[in-house]
Amino acid sequence: MLRNVTLASMALALGAMLGQVSADDGDQELLATAQQLFKPLPADFATPQRMLTAEKVALGRQLFFEPRASLDGTMSCAACHQASLYGTDGIPKSFGVQNRAIPRNAATVLNTAGQFVQHFGGNRQDVEEQAMRALLSPLAYGNPDYATAMAHLKAIPGYAPLFAAAFPGTADPITAENWATAIGAYERTLVSAGAFDRYLGGDTAALPPQARRGLGTFIATGCAGCHNGALVGGTMFQRFGITTDYWTETHSTAIDKGRFVDTKNDADLYLFKVAPLRNITRTPPYFHDGSVATLPEAVRVMAKTQLGKDLEAADIADIIAFLDSLTGEIPQHFREAPILPPGSFVALPVK
Ligand code: HEC
Ligand code: HEC
Repeated sequence: MLRNVTLASMALALGAMLGQVSADDGDQELLATAQQLFKPLPADFATPQRMLTAEKVALGRQLFFEPRASLDGTMSCAACHQASLYGTDGIPKSFGVQNRAIPRNAATVLNTAGQFVQHFGGNRQDVEEQAMRALLSPLAYGNPDYATAMAHLKAIPGYAPLFAAAFPGTADPITAENWATAIGAYERTLVSAGAFDRYLGGDTAALPPQARRGLGTFIATGCAGCHNGALVGGTMFQRFGITTDYWTETHSTAIDKGRFVDTKNDADLYLFKVAPLRNITRTPPYFHDGSVATLPEAVRVMAKTQLGKDLEAADIADIIAFLDSLTGEIPQHFREAPILPPGSFVALPVK
């Protein structure tokens, strides 16, 4: 929490400084400020604990697109995280196996591995835990247990050599842990750098003038106090609805209590992970429940609920020009679906 306060006050102080600089120095001042608040995207999100190998990433890519590990053979990660929709499904709330309704909006998988936790309520530590638990989630894959989930994969002969290549030296490599490690490895390569990264690298002309103005407004308004780092978000939890209850502005029909849903701790009421804003112009609808259809409205709601401010339409337009510069290139190995090993889906008896 201390960290949040420090960052927020830093952003406000920097925002105030920005107001004082002359137009000539403005571009360099703005760049220097932005370089303190944000970072270019890395080439991938490997860590010493999560090293990537070509075999793990290749297997993970297959598993990401693989529907036959789900209860009824219909759900894959790619079903809800579609490359053609920048890693989302485009609808307010997703539907899992047997059309079961999920109470939240599908966040993008692009750059997701760079966040401090996963899911709106932060109840998954990393992409590996997220992938492992998706197998048993009654609303997503719907498997009764890991053995059933893995039996689906073992029924497809082509997977044994792929798992053996990715996890050499183990007798039975087709395990839920290895599934999660491989999918996580693939997700750690789903990075979408773009104009903003070139800008942070020192090329001020990479952002058109309106986007630079919008960046200044984004910082001066206080947005960067919460939305910062390489993903322009994904570094902390914050209450959604600091100055006004969020649902009075989003008109959400069901009220989601955020992190409280998992922790049952009153201090976590309406706490949500600060959403990353990379590719945000490409991933409507907005917020954890997809309650807001357009980005201008989402920006208006944020200024109102988080900062108690009523933004002018011109400021919103500038901020959106900046947000558009956060759109990046979709990696080819996500854009293109892999060909999967052949094998008919086998419905397995539920134990
Ligand atoms: C039925 C649709 C559906 C399927 C299938 C699905 N997801 Fe998701 N995914 C969602 C929804 C909805 C959320 C938001 C859940 C939340 O935050 O509570 C989400 C969230 C995530 C997140 C967290 C993103 C963030 O910003 O916090 C990751 C990572 C992710 N999914 C990866 C996967 C992977 C990997 C698979 C396959 C193993 C998968 N998903 C399968 C719908 C789906
Ligand atoms: C006090 C922290 C805080 C501040 C300040 C803040 N935000 Fe947010 N923002 C959040 C949180 C938390 C969420 C996630 C809410 C949710 O999904 O329900 C979010 C979500 C968003 C979203 C939706 C993301 C998505 O994927 O659906 C946008 C767009 C956004 N913020 C833009 C802004 C802008 C622009 C500003 C400045 C006017 C701003 N935010 C200020 C905390 C903040």
